[in-house]
Amino acid sequence: MSNPLKLTHFLHGGDYNPDQWLDHPEIIDRDFHLFQQAHLNSITLGVFSWAKLEPSEGHYDFSWLDDIFDRAEAQGTHVILATPSGARPRWLAEKYPEVLRVDNHGQRQHFGERHNHCYTSPIYREKVQTINRKLAERYGHRKSLLMWHISNEYGGQCFCDLCQAAFRDWLKAKYHSLDCLNHAYWSSFWSHTYTSWDQVEAPSPLGDQSVTGLNLDWHRFVTDRTIDFFENEIKPLRELTPNIPVTTNFMGGNPPESHVFTDLDYQKFAEHVDIVSWDSYPNWSNDYESTAQLAMKTALMNDEMRSLKHDNYLIMESTPSQVNWHPYNRSKRPGMHEMGSLQQIAHGANSVMYFQLHQSRGASEMFHGAVITNNLSDQTRAFKDVTTVGHDLQQLTGAVATHRRDARVAIVFDYDNMWALDDSRNYANATKQYWRTIQEHYQYFWEHDIPVDIVKTADDLTPYTLVIDPMHFLMDQAFAAKLKAYVHQGGHLVGTYITGIVDRNDLAYQGGWLPDLQATYGLTVQETDTLYPHQHNTLKAFDKTYTTKDYSDLLVLDGAEPLGTYERDFYAGTTAISRHPLEQGAAYYLGCRTDTDFLEDFYRSLDRSLKLTPELPLKKKTPTVSIQVRENATAHFYFVINFSHQATTIQLTQPLTDALTHQPADSTQELPAYGVRVFTDSQD
Ligand code: GAL
Repeated sequence: MSNPLKLTHFLHGGDYNPDQWLDHPEIIDRDFHLFQQAHLNSITLGVFSWAKLEPSEGHYDFSWLDDIFDRAEAQGTHVILATPSGARPRWLAEKYPEVLRVDNHGQRQHFGERHNHCYTSPIYREKVQTINRKLAERYGHRKSLLMWHISNEYGGQCFCDLCQAAFRDWLKAKYHSLDCLNHAYWSSFWSHTYTSWDQVEAPSPLGDQSVTGLNLDWHRFVTDRTIDFFENEIKPLRELTPNIPVTTNFMGGNPPESHVFTDLDYQKFAEHVDIVSWDSYPNWSNDYESTAQLAMKTALMNDEMRSLKHDNYLIMESTPSQVNWHPYNRSKRPGMHEMGSLQQIAHGANSVMYFQLHQSRGASEMFHGAVITNNLSDQTRAFKDVTTVGHDLQQLTGAVATHRRDARVAIVFDYDNMWALDDSRNYANATKQYWRTIQEHYQYFWEHDIPVDIVKTADDLTPYTLVIDPMHFLMDQAFAAKLKAYVHQGGHLVGTYITGIVDRNDLAYQGGWLPDLQATYGLTVQETDTLYPHQHNTLKAFDKTYTTKDYSDLLVLDGAEPLGTYERDFYAGTTAISRHPLEQGAAYYLGCRTDTDFLEDFYRSLDRSLKLTPELPLKKKTPTVSIQVRENATAHFYFVINFSHQATTIQLTQPLTDALTHQPADSTQELPAYGVRVFTDSQD
């Protein structure tokens, strides 16, 4: 594992926007005092400070930032310095309107909001480089500078003429000829044939939105354009500060689904950052799922972020209390802040950082939770909770050089597949739910403390005993061949309904299922029945009957053996679930969607035969307690977290030290509601 930040302790800090308080230096004085009190060791500066740093074109004022750097340095606090491109000053938009984003109706936006610049505009790129260069020249050698935080939460799309031209160039480089483009987009259908590159336009409600190959390429282009913009941003930083790592804060999707962020291919983007960081805002205590259910989804998001580089990562933002943008902004119950914060550490995060350290007095985020609220007190629950986490992180310093235990189980996730599946004019838009399907497959492993990686198609599959590849609608032949080789070499593979339908251009495979999938799963898929929400079939398997829903593949076996059969409808008696042994390995095909009751039984049987559940020196009584292990060659840290409002106990089956108190741990441990314990065998 690399450690680009060379951290010797966990980071605890967050976004600090002191430019709101420059006329109140006593507030800034007090803030720094409170930072120490709350064990904060890092501040993220300048995320949206462009107008304060360059009040008019070419006129800079760094005096206030110099002062904040001095203060940070005086108390040994790290600085994570942001480039300010996430929100531009008014003068820039007024003088150079091309920096403003154009929507998919061709309408240029007015100045306002944030995260809404054109990613192609040469002027914006130049202005961003200029301010970034100034920052690197001025602060690049400050000893407190730990890392660059590039822009903020990149996202969105621009449809201006410059972006359209860049899109056409991107397509030319990809397809070389219009014939190839026409073939990929199947453009003779509806007489859409392109006869000149100039005719190609980004998808728009005013033009084409039904050419699914075009839609898919647009998604890919938006990722590439954003990365290109990012690369432009970091050029002066790489030149002037080659030893300072760069990151940009990735996002998770919003409630209710706790979905991945869908605009950008983070698997691709992650190759360009030195360390992955992301902003995590689970809506604890909502009214539609249990704390454990949301904890499982949050664990999955953390596993997804860690898997981007298969390395430790950072939580760049989280809230100490509540946010102001969930549909309902619930307070954290007592204990929950520590619970949620240490959960991220348990999965491989090396930081707990917040938005924001001092609450805004006005404007859009005045009601967003903060470490120091408008109450200004150190007696708020949020301040005390943050102090507790800061203390915990200090006690856990020995764990910073560990990483989450290697996984033997992988779930494949692919952005092209997600975009193509979501856009496919088939199945049912309401029930495709690719990410939710991944969550449902992940659940068994989370409940049984079995580490999981979320892998991309380019990853090596051979380290894994079990690979789960759900709803892989868009799959190229090379990946089908990789799956086949994986199973032949002794791997165990689980695939599901709606797999292997289209190629990388979103064109349907001809002549039946891909030969490599047929050979791997030992069957062919004849058709897929899409059910309405209130329709169900039943499945007979493991001597039980399970309800099925949403999708039923009709299968013809060719080498595979049935593990379960449909009980109803015209395909009653045919195979729904199959197993195909291949040399040392086996491929399982789940032809229908079930509830998690079936998945639990199915994965339990695989767990038993493949011995996936790790031997742990702790025994828990309920699946709502999660045990994650961080380790290195000499030490293990067991993070035990109760994601329930009910207290429980756990048993230690070998002597361990309580890593938070450094005392020998009793063998019976009480875990209060939302309680956290960390145990270690470390001798340090
Ligand atoms: C993030 C954003 C921050 C702040 C925060 C509030 O998405 O990066 O600037 O707005 O949300 O939760």
